Amino acid sequence: MCVPIWAAMPASAQNKLVKQYCEVCHTDAVRNGGLSLESYDAAKPDPTLAAMILSKLNDGAMGAAGNGVPDKAAQEAWLTATREQAVGAAEWFVSREDGLVSASVTREVPSRRADVSKRPIYRIKVACNTISGVGQMQLTWSPQAQTGRTMTVSVDREAPVEYSLDGKESMGNGANVQSGHASLLLSDNGKAKLPNHSMTVRELFPGETVAFPFSDLDGKARTDLSACFNPPPQH
Ligand code: HEC
Repeated sequence: MCVPIWAAMPASAQNKLVKQYCEVCHTDAVRNGGLSLESYDAAKPDPTLAAMILSKLNDGAMGAAGNGVPDKAAQEAWLTATREQAVGAAEWFVSREDGLVSASVTREVPSRRADVSKRPIYRIKVACNTISGVGQMQLTWSPQAQTGRTMTVSVDREAPVEYSLDGKESMGNGANVQSGHASLLLSDNGKAKLPNHSMTVRELFPGETVAFPFSDLDGKARTDLSACFNPPPQH
């Protein structure tokens, strides 16, 4: 695979910024927002993840660690490079590495907010470890954390399933601050099914509906992922 060169900022410089300003809360152990950036590498671009990072960068995440912020030029370059990487985030991104297959896609809600950078963005990521047969379906969102809400997820034409978002998470850097949630594991309770056509999320953000286009997922990715979500019948 060829390593892309981001015009605005080399991958190594982006990785350094992520380490300095983000990683403390997004380690494998802490995973604030359900996200680890511990092995983040801008040289292996994932447009859907970049779109989420971009949303958070636009929402002040650079200063979240309490380590100050990069200088103006670095901020601009980081934003531009992340924007470049996020191109195509509304289409399925399929990755295959060491027996782990994943597919992710984002949707932005054309909302009433005039400020584009504050618009809610949602990401669904379906992953399958084809060796162990264990799958995971994770919904994440940005920029506003949510708590004390009941949302629903409908798959194809099935009845909506309710999920409650309660409680708060503590910051991985030990700061005495708490926020709501920005992620939900749909696969946690065994209720998740791999949709054939669509997955519709309602009322995660008040009054909003978002639909993920599972009918656009390519056949090979669907087959690989089904190994975890629709186990073949036992003989
Ligand atoms: C002080 C701890 C802290 C730091 C530092 C931090 N975050 Fe977060 N992050 C959180 C918490 C807590 C959430 C979940 C709640 C929320 O969204 O506010 C979150 C959520 C997110 C999400 C949305 C959820 C997801 O999985 O997509 C993204 C993206 C994200 N952070 C990226 C970043 C980036 C990029 C940086 C560095 C510029 C960063 N964060 C720095 C604590 C932190």
